[in-house]
Amino acid sequence: MVLVNGKPQTSCNLPLWAVQGHEITTLEGLGHDGRPHALQQAFMDENAGQCGYCLSGILISASALLQEIPLPSRAQICQALDKHLCRCGAHERIIRAVQRAAQTERHT
Ligand code: FES
Repeated sequence: MVLVNGKPQTSCNLPLWAVQGHEITTLEGLGHDGRPHALQQAFMDENAGQCGYCLSGILISASALLQEIPLPSRAQICQALDKHLCRCGAHERIIRAVQRAAQTERHT
């Protein structure tokens, strides 16, 4: 997943010509050197997720959600992340991490 003009898109289905001239944000682009994005920090703090496969997409979708809805409900978080398949059972920790990031962003 990447953000294309702030909207999450599946990069594997996105030809380069379709995004020419658009603003692209990857997972690496969320944070800055030595200063992770609030979501990245919250996922570390909550020990949310276990793999590097699904987490990239989850973080990108969650960042788009927080841009659109700064303090989302649990249902809104679940809806935003519904298309991501996590098979390790970290769902509750992932939801807590998004809630934590939302609270962190609210107070910064
Ligand atoms: Fe990747 Fe759960 S964090 S499968």
